[in-house]
Amino acid sequence: MMSEDFHRVRSVAIIGAGASGAITAAAFAAEKYFDRIQVFERRESAGGTWIYDSNTPHKLPLKPGSLPPESDPSIPVPDDLPKITSPDKQERFTQTPIYSSLTTNVPAIAMSFSDLPFAYGPFVPHHIPKLYVESYFAHHGTDTLLSLNTTVEDVSLIKTPNSSKEKWKLALRKHDSVRQVDVWWEDHFDAVVFANGHYSVPFIPEVEGLAAYISKFPGRVVHSKTYRTPLLYKNKKVLIIGNSASGKDLSTDLLSSVHLPLYQSRRSASRWDGPLPPEGIAWKPIIKEFLPSGRILFEDGTYLDDIDTVIYCTGYLPSFPFWNVKNNGREIWDYQKGKLVKTYLHTFFQDFKTLGIVGIPRVLTFRSFEYQAIALARLWSGRQTKTLPGLEVQERWELEREVERRRLGKKFHDIEWETGETFDWLGSLFEIAGLPRLTGEGRQPPVLEESVRWAIEHLRKYPEPGKGEDGEGDEVEKGEWVVVERTKKDLLSFI
Ligand SMILES: Cc1cc2nc3c(=O)[nH]c(=O)nc-3n(C[C@H](O)[C@H](O)[C@H](O)COP(=O)(O)OP(=O)(O)OC[C@H]3O[C@@H](n4cnc5c(N)ncnc54)[C@H](O)[C@@H]3O)c2cc1C
Ligand SMILES: NC(=O)c1ccc[n+]([C@@H]2O[C@H](COP(=O)([O-])OP(=O)(O)OC[C@H]3O[C@@H](n4cnc5c(N)ncnc54)[C@H](OP(=O)(O)O)[C@@H]3O)[C@@H](O)[C@H]2O)c1
Repeated sequence: MMSEDFHRVRSVAIIGAGASGAITAAAFAAEKYFDRIQVFERRESAGGTWIYDSNTPHKLPLKPGSLPPESDPSIPVPDDLPKITSPDKQERFTQTPIYSSLTTNVPAIAMSFSDLPFAYGPFVPHHIPKLYVESYFAHHGTDTLLSLNTTVEDVSLIKTPNSSKEKWKLALRKHDSVRQVDVWWEDHFDAVVFANGHYSVPFIPEVEGLAAYISKFPGRVVHSKTYRTPLLYKNKKVLIIGNSASGKDLSTDLLSSVHLPLYQSRRSASRWDGPLPPEGIAWKPIIKEFLPSGRILFEDGTYLDDIDTVIYCTGYLPSFPFWNVKNNGREIWDYQKGKLVKTYLHTFFQDFKTLGIVGIPRVLTFRSFEYQAIALARLWSGRQTKTLPGLEVQERWELEREVERRRLGKKFHDIEWETGETFDWLGSLFEIAGLPRLTGEGRQPPVLEESVRWAIEHLRKYPEPGKGEDGEGDEVEKGEWVVVERTKKDLLSFI
């Protein structure tokens, strides 16, 4: 693709005003090239994940094994926009999972963009990143580009008759709380960046008897998304499922409140696990079955009979209800493979040159979003240093990664630190972006300086028992033998 092809990108829509949307808006504005940049955000403010919904969250529909196309479907767009309709009542999963005591788990220096530090660090309460994202928009004057309370309900590629020119048509819905109506309209853009996050729609696995258990004992099963405070669980017998960041954080938070022991069902060990559970916690393997009596049976044959609350900390699934499969000719996310369809470097699309995505890989969060955003902005302003390779190379990148990650039993969009993958990936984006102009248009991709690298490698929210200075330590001495008991998870695996 020659850079000239992108010179027609003059208007850009960004979906989402979290950290990804904030840096994308700043990178595009820095080009001083685009005639129109608009950031659509369905919430009342910027901040994304970091908005704290202090009100007790309403109950979410929990259907074991259900995927977002079923649990978070698109809503019908009225014909002949603009239009005013009665308010949409469907569950849209707009509330965030932030709980009262949550502090960050990524060192502030890596969690901030290169041109503005966090107020303090290294691990901060949740209001700090919220304030940061909001003020980042103001810092760059991009707050003026925000269209708040506005949900993008449909994204469709349309071809202009008798021309090769393509445009994206967006159907937009704004809730007017004064008149208690939804106001719908449509808008057109040359290019779109998805910065819509992927921690909104909770995932609960399918387990034998779980669906019946949920109906028989209403409210007994919840997801970490709706957890806010340990006070709700005072003296309750609680079982936590999952052992990643939410499983660890919630079990730590709940210890002071619940009836002990607090049970935690783990499918795999985390970096912070020692050979024994922390005091007050009893580990369990994965659940085999929920029985009609209320008994919860585990894979090792043990069971629990009197659990008051089961908190699923089993993560989230990305959702793109606005992606119009019919008009765009294909799906955007493959739920079976757990990956975006036809991307290159987790950022560009092989078949949609004017579509980009920021924030999907599980890697450095904010700092890595910066490289993605700058690479897209440079490319679409036609000022990139390196063009994207041809379709064949992009397809090969995707296929080879898919095969390799499957072979390793790892997720397509998880990018590792210890293998050097993070450097290769950021390096590729860095090379595409290149330098700003001598006259100042554009933004330079940051260096991954020593202080950032040091923080990632040495600062931990939770200690990692048994780990020496060299980071090794998954070994347990048995007599004269040293047995590696488990495959070590990557340093970024909890992010
Ligand atoms: C509980 C929890 C704790 C976390 N802790 C950390 C941490 O300590 N450190 C760290 O670095 N990362 C952490 N993360 C990851 C965090 O999500 C990222 O750091 C980062 O904030 C993601 O930013 P984002 O902009 O990509 O997505 P989000 O923050 O999710 O923002 C996406 C935005 O898009 C909006 N949106 C979605 N769909 C639409 C639509 N159709 N129309 C309009 N707007 C839409 C959403 O309302 C949202 O505001 C945590 C995540 C969770 C769930
Ligand atoms: N700042 C903080 O301290 C903090 C707190 C909470 C969350 N977060 C962030 O929020 C995001 C989401 O984290 P998360 O912990 O909610 O989700 P997650 O990282 O996706 O972890 C999901 C957990 O559920 C387990 N799991 C998934 N499917 C399962 C199944 N079928 N049966 C049994 N177990 C299953 C996984 O086990 P395996 O590991 O074996 O796959 C894993 O332990 C991350 O970015 C995280 O960093 C941060």
